[in-house]
Formats: sequence, structure tokens, C-alpha cells
Amino acid sequence: MYQKAEQNFRCAACGDLLEIVYPDWSITPIDAALLRDLWRQRRTSGLPVDESGVWRFRELLPGFHDWQEIITLREGNTPLYEMPSCARNAGMQQLYAKHQGMNPTGSFKDTGMTVAASVARREGFRWVACASTGNTSASMAAYAARGGMRSLVLIPEGKVSWGKLSQALDYGAVTCQLKTDFDGCMRVLNEVVQRMPVYLLNSVNPYRLEGQKTAAVELMEQFDWQPPEHVIVPGGNLGNSSALGKAFLEMKQLGLISALPKVSIIQAAGANPLVRTMRENGGKKLITVQAETAASAIRIGSPASWKKAVGVLHATGGAVEQVSEVEIALAKAEIGADGIGCEPASAVTLAGLKKLVKQGFVKSGESVVLILTGHLLKDPEFTLKFHRGDLFAGTGSEKEADILKPQQRAPIVLDATMDAVIRTLKEADDQLEM
Ligand code: F0G
Repeated sequence: MYQKAEQNFRCAACGDLLEIVYPDWSITPIDAALLRDLWRQRRTSGLPVDESGVWRFRELLPGFHDWQEIITLREGNTPLYEMPSCARNAGMQQLYAKHQGMNPTGSFKDTGMTVAASVARREGFRWVACASTGNTSASMAAYAARGGMRSLVLIPEGKVSWGKLSQALDYGAVTCQLKTDFDGCMRVLNEVVQRMPVYLLNSVNPYRLEGQKTAAVELMEQFDWQPPEHVIVPGGNLGNSSALGKAFLEMKQLGLISALPKVSIIQAAGANPLVRTMRENGGKKLITVQAETAASAIRIGSPASWKKAVGVLHATGGAVEQVSEVEIALAKAEIGADGIGCEPASAVTLAGLKKLVKQGFVKSGESVVLILTGHLLKDPEFTLKFHRGDLFAGTGSEKEADILKPQQRAPIVLDATMDAVIRTLKEADDQLEM
């Protein structure tokens, strides 16, 4: 168990991040068919531990003596959507998105936070803390509040969307905007937790990844345990790709699935340390970058879980790719046009898929799942700027951004008359027919 005032989630011998393993699985083999039935039955239960789309799969998670000890907001249980127009745009026959933005605080972080926050409370911590580009802090603040703990948030000043910042405030976090980037916040927090009895809830905490694994398990249940050929995930601090990869490998080991999907990781070109690391040295040594992207959730230059992510790429045969700011904006609008929507960081998945199809890495008849990580309403400023045509003003990418025009729907200011509205309606209808 970890010392209260000093949690270093790294191995003392090699310095690598710790990972939770389950030696019992090889001693007492798990009956895959029985487990699938049990998990399905729990969906009709009214117990909080069964209603949670994370704890429903608790046989794959760290145990609690008393399941009443867990802090749950009924996270998980997220929808799998078909994306017909995105499929066409990407050159695919069919395409799915699993929307982790449909979690209680609007991002995938809740699935990991329920586990790590529950551990924090069980260990007697009064304070939890994280550095964040926004979603982790929103999620942590909510789970801390539900669990009767205090929370400390370190975020880069001016680089977190208002939606996410306002969540941390509403859930009662002590919120510090530091004059640095995410990587700088992480550095400062690592020093704070060495001196103060606050429990670190960033994804270096291995319990976070255990909870985040369950998105892959739920996905397999939704696919009736027939894995898709590809799963495509955004890469920031690289905790999520590591967690999903771990889940697929464990499910294969346990006989829950018979093959592994290829897990591919997509980064913004301006925040591409994993892409560079893979291309320049095959994943042997992390190349850090000074990160810059409007997809602020993944504005990370020195990802903590890079080694685990490299392991997932190697084990599953996934690809790593980068996409431009304009490609991200276009993909986000296309996901919106399917009636789904997501935040910018999630849209790298569709933008990346288009590239992987062009390269022939993904074939048009294969089954592909995009992992959408955050809700559309997390970053409304990005969406408004996009539709008003302001997103690329003064960035030097105005010319390239011309391709976005057909997707833009600026709000229309009119006189308050029926005529004005009907005229606008007719114009819009004519445009459709053109
Ligand atoms: N998508 C969204 C919406 C995110 O908020 C993040 C990370 C990622 C993708 C990348 O996931 O870090 O596991 O590779 N957000 C963190 C935060 C860093 O602080 O909210 P990752």
C-alpha cells in the first residue's frame, strides 16, 4: 500500500509507472461465459455497484471488502452509435463511435475516477489532487465532493475551456490557474504530493487506468464479444490508450474475446510527442515537444504513460498518426452533423481514421470504433468560433481553412418578423437543393 504523504507511482528499481496485475487469474481460471452472463444480469439490478457501468465489471477491478465504500455517479453505460455520414466522409462502409463524453461529468475520466477516488477515501485521504487540461479536474472534483473529500486542481492559466473550469468550481475544488502549461502543472504537483498528504489522481495513478479499462469491456459486450478490427483513440497523456489496450489484452487472456483489435492512437500535429517518438526511434525514448493545439484537452508535450502506450501499439499492431488543426475542426463538425457531437480532442479520431484509410492501414469494409472522449458542450467556444468562421483568423491557416466553409452554420440575426424568418428558411432550403 502507498505511503500517505508520499505516493510515487513508479517502480523504485526501474523508474517505470506501476501497473496493477491480477495473479489470481492464473491460479483460479475465470469462466468467461459465466462472467458475461453475470455482467448482463447486473444490468437489471438497482444496487449502485451494479448500476455503475464500471463496477458492473468488478471481477476485472481491484476489490473492495465492502462495496458500499465505493464512490459512484453511475458512470460508464455509454452509448455505441453508428455514424453513417462520418463513415461516408472517411470512405468506410460502416463506422461506430463509443461516446465516453456521455459520462456524468461529460468525459471518459469518470470511469477511472470512480475507482481511484474510492481508493483514496478507503486509504483515509482528506485531500485529492490533479494537474489537468480540464476534464480530469472536473471529474476529480465531482467524485471528491460525492465522497466527502477536498480537491486541489492545478490547471494551465488561459488554456482550459470555460465549461471544464466552471465544473471544477461548482464541485468545490480549490482551483489554481498556474502560469505555465499542463506539463508545468504536472511538475509542480509532483513536488506538492511529496510534501503534503494529498492523493494524486492523475492517470499515473494505476487505479485510474483500471476503471478506464471498462470502456473496452463494455464495448465488447455491445459488440456481443466479437472484437472490431480497429479501435481509434486520441492521445494526450496516453493514459486512456494504455488502459484500453490493457483491457483488450486481459480480455484475450481470460478468453472473453478471441482476437485483439488494433488500437491506433491519434495526436494533434502540434502536440505529437508519441508520433515523433515512434517515427524517430521506434518508441525507445520519449521525444518531448512544446505542445500547441486548439484541442486544449490534448495540449501535452511530455506524456506520462508513453511507455505503456508504446506497449499497446506493439501488442495490438495499431498505428500512430497526427492531424492538423483544420483536419480536427472539420472532423468535429462532421461528428456534429451526425447528430452526435464531441469536443475537439475527440475529433482527432475521425481525422486520423481518414488518413489511415488513405494509407490503406484501415480497409473500407473493416469494422472500426472511434472513442469519443468528451462531450460537445465541454468547449462551446471552439464550436462557436468554428461556425462564425473565426477559428483560424490570424493563425496563417486561413487558406487551408476554406474547406471548412460548407460545414459552417453561423447564427443569423434577424428582425423579429415572420417574413424575415420565412425568407431565411426558404434560402436555407434552396441551398440544400443546390
Ligand atoms: N480527450 C479528452 C477529451 C481529454 O480530456 C483527454 C485528456 C484526452 C482525450 C487524452 O487522454 O491523456 O489519457 O491520453 N485529458 C487530461 C485532462 C489530460 O487533464 O483532462 P489521455
